[in-house]
Amino acid sequence: MTALTDFTFCATDLDQISDFDGTIAIFVGADAKLDACARKVNTLTRKAVDRFVASEAFNGLAEGAAVRLAYPSGLSAVAVIVVKLDRKPTQEAARKAGASLAIEKGPQPMLVLAGNLGSADEAALGLMLRDYAYVDHKTAEPKLRGPVTIMMSKPEAVDAVALRSVAEGVFFTRDLTNAPANDLTTTSFGDRLAELQALGLRVEVLEENQLEELGMGALLCVGQGSASPSKVVVMQWHGGGDEAPFALVGKGVVFDTGGISIKPAGGMEDMTMDMGGAGVVSGVMKTLAMRKAKANVVGLVGIVENMPSDRAVRPGDVVTSMKGDTIEVINTDAEGRLVLADLLWYAQDRFAPRAMINLATLTGAMLIALGHENAGVFSNSDDLSAAFLKAAGAEGEGAWRLPMSPAYDKLINSRIADMKNTGGRPAGSITAAQFLARFVKDDLPWAHLDIAGVASVKGATTLAPAGATGWGVMALNRLISDNYEA
Ligand code: BES
Ligand code: MN
Ligand code: ZN
Repeated sequence: MTALTDFTFCATDLDQISDFDGTIAIFVGADAKLDACARKVNTLTRKAVDRFVASEAFNGLAEGAAVRLAYPSGLSAVAVIVVKLDRKPTQEAARKAGASLAIEKGPQPMLVLAGNLGSADEAALGLMLRDYAYVDHKTAEPKLRGPVTIMMSKPEAVDAVALRSVAEGVFFTRDLTNAPANDLTTTSFGDRLAELQALGLRVEVLEENQLEELGMGALLCVGQGSASPSKVVVMQWHGGGDEAPFALVGKGVVFDTGGISIKPAGGMEDMTMDMGGAGVVSGVMKTLAMRKAKANVVGLVGIVENMPSDRAVRPGDVVTSMKGDTIEVINTDAEGRLVLADLLWYAQDRFAPRAMINLATLTGAMLIALGHENAGVFSNSDDLSAAFLKAAGAEGEGAWRLPMSPAYDKLINSRIADMKNTGGRPAGSITAAQFLARFVKDDLPWAHLDIAGVASVKGATTLAPAGATGWGVMALNRLISDNYEA
């Protein structure tokens, strides 16, 4: 588990600067004007700041980038970090500035002199989010991560609980998504979600016999070749009144070998992240509970492992979904939609939600279409997809809507069953969405987010190191706070 760096917001006290043991951060805009905090540091360091901001090095810095001035004379600090940032930065620039601080931070405590910087809370969030490392399986002593003190004019205006809740939710998602499949088994995943009860969530772990009773033949066939039992976890947050809940549904394939339609060896190890959709749902539920959201939200995740074995589902097998529709399994590697079909149906059947969004690392075709920059959005509702795209845009999480249409349905019609689970290569992400739509009631606003390209990436992004990104936690948290909270 990756703990959040320790954060405090407090009023500015210039007298603490000279003796501070650690690193000190100041912000200077492109106009090179120093605020009171930077002036104080400048005076104490006998104008080291002046000299730096007059240099070509500062001139060439991008907005939000930082430079570390090591062992400044006149201060106890080991370094002064100068961040180039406008006094009234955009949210994006402020988060980037915070992320730059996280990269330059080092193990010592840090004193951030934000003064009257606009969006200091966003800079703090950027710092929190970028100060992440997945070290659960490193044997070396974890690096010290000293506490961060943010001095500012109006610390009382910062909603520290909201910031921390978001960062904790994102970290939870990243930890789950980064975890290898022999660590995050179906059972340990269920256990980790059950622990969320401590935050006031109601968590139920449904076991295989219960799923059989519910008739979840589509979900169950995916895990039937694995020694690890399939599970459905239901997480309920009751923060609103009597209104129907908003439903979040996630694909939680802890490892996707492809099953009997086995995947090639190269890159198969990446399929530890095939529970990324369930990871995001779990992270959002954690955030909502931590910030005590005034909304009713239910999160459902289907946790299974897709393995080949003598008991595994075969290509050509026909399974019956909870809805009652039969599915011909053409390719056992198109397993995510089988999991979601039953979960989506169960979510509607049990909770009659006001709206529903599912997330899944569903198709490789999604990476071909949008790469790692945008998730695919598929929806039966212009309103819901517009609201989601707005929330994602506001959080800087890339998302792009793709079309759905009954015209694609013929690709998934089966000769012997009600439908088949693949439609071939053309429009692979859309036919997957069309498949899911068959398990969504007509009048329910619904969106499917295909996060195959964004859940985990090979290189660092602005707010995350390489690996799991936590994409979607912030967008969904905002979607709920902007549209479904009192
Ligand atoms: N989990 C994969 C999709 C995936 C691929 C996610 C790459 C992240 C990165 C999914 O279960 C899958 O295997 N989909 C198949 C569907 C096909 C058989 C119709 C695919 O995309 O190849
Ligand atoms: Mn697959
Ligand atoms: Zn998969």
